Amino acid sequence: MTKIGLAVLISGRGSNLQSLIDACASADFPAEIKLVICNIPSVFGIERAEKAGIPVAVIPHKDFPSRETFEQAMLDEIAKYPVDLVCQAGFMRIVTPTFISPWRGRLINIHPSLLPKFKGLHTHERAIEAGETEAGCTIHYVNEGVDEGEIILQKSVPVLPDDTPDTLAARVLEKEHIAYPEAVRLLAQNILEKQ
Ligand code: GAR
Repeated sequence: MTKIGLAVLISGRGSNLQSLIDACASADFPAEIKLVICNIPSVFGIERAEKAGIPVAVIPHKDFPSRETFEQAMLDEIAKYPVDLVCQAGFMRIVTPTFISPWRGRLINIHPSLLPKFKGLHTHERAIEAGETEAGCTIHYVNEGVDEGEIILQKSVPVLPDDTPDTLAARVLEKEHIAYPEAVRLLAQNILEKQ
């Protein structure tokens, strides 16, 4: 089966990376991870990639004088592999046009809210404070706005009366792990049809 190549960008524990690793293990999943890039040394997501035998590039953003030089280093790394789609999976850096322009339409992110609600950080805490009865996650294209690109797919969960940010986060995370592979499958099929 023809598969597209993914680069997955992470900053932390990498549970969404794991959901993609697991999906890619299926023979009928139309994508494979060629490279994982991590901007924080020593996080658990790196171990997940290594265990799966995927090349990992640790590129600490703190080693670079600007966002642009950091992003150029990521672009240079990605260029070494046959990558069709770049997936931000718990990647906690805002990217600039330096990174977005070459990958526009092929750069996606997962965000733990039902966008356009609760862009940015502390989404679960804010959803509870706002008295929302529904929360969820969004897979969207990345553009120059923060969490503003076109929505590809969303999944929702109820907010329960006794929820804390942690219990709500856990319920949303379960949906994230279903949503990300589903979105990648959808986009991979589109990319493969155009090839
Ligand atoms: C996930 O909940 C993801 O949606 C969120 O960070 C978590 C990463 O978990 N991303 C953002 O908040 C992006 N602004 P993971 O490292 O276990 O995948």
